[in-house]
Amino acid sequence: MSMFENLLTHTESGIHHIIINRAGKLNALNRDTLAELHTALYDAFNNEKVGGIIITGAGDRAFVAGADIAEFASFDSVKGEELARRGHKNVFDFIENSNKPIIAAINGFALGGGLELALACHIRIASENAKMGLPEVTLGLIPGYGGTQRLTRLVGRGRALEMILTGDMITAQEAYQFGLVNHVVSQYDLLTKAETLLRVILSRAPLALQSAIRAVNASSQQGVNGFEEEIELFGQCFDTADFKEGVDAFFGKRKPEFRGK
Ligand code: COA
Repeated sequence: MSMFENLLTHTESGIHHIIINRAGKLNALNRDTLAELHTALYDAFNNEKVGGIIITGAGDRAFVAGADIAEFASFDSVKGEELARRGHKNVFDFIENSNKPIIAAINGFALGGGLELALACHIRIASENAKMGLPEVTLGLIPGYGGTQRLTRLVGRGRALEMILTGDMITAQEAYQFGLVNHVVSQYDLLTKAETLLRVILSRAPLALQSAIRAVNASSQQGVNGFEEEIELFGQCFDTADFKEGVDAFFGKRKPEFRGK
């Protein structure tokens, strides 16, 4: 059961669902929703019954239509910078650096902070009706929750600059062609697709999953040598019980039973 005002949450067979639930405002991220998201993520990261997380939006129109414009309408530069810094730390970087896999199930508009939320997740799946964009320049702003960095890494500089400079939305199919989303399915199949993918991931060795996320993240962290990070994390895997179990199961021609140890 959910204890939040702007989120619905539940855990089912190791998958924690976080549904952003401000349907009247197309699930726009206000301050309270961001604070609740941090709490929901923190709880899920520290709950050993949770293997992975799916984030989606309530209703059939929007994943998240951006940061709540009404809340920052009167901000100055100091407040604007503070808003972005807090968001990065508490939600967007927090998601990217999670040791549990997080999938964004994009069920409609994913705009501005909404697309940035999806970009922070490890994997993105979109429904056919989804529309994605970074329309901040239409408001006299630029993306402030990591969009200029994560979109560029994912789709390349040319496509990222076109999306950011025009502010125009792209369709789910275009997002698929750009490599922005991994799969496009009907809205009806969206959550099933996300769950099926996450179940495959969760059948693998949990400590290896954590290390894989850390090593991949290291590829885009300034001042971190990703190859060195990979070498160290690879080495550490050999000391895990899961590695022994994986190898035993391989030679025993049976399915491994990983314990995350
Ligand atoms: N912040 C605050 N409120 C938002 C919002 C946002 N990012 N996005 C939508 N809403 C609100 C609207 O103000 C409206 O509220 P109201 O019914 O009280 O007037 C409600 O959600 C429904 O949106 P509406 O614009 O009427 O729906 P639409 O179908 O005509 O248009 C969009 C849908 C997504 C194209 C349009 O809402 C939009 O452009 N939203 C802003 C997107 C954006 O710029 N995001 C980046 C912010 S940095």
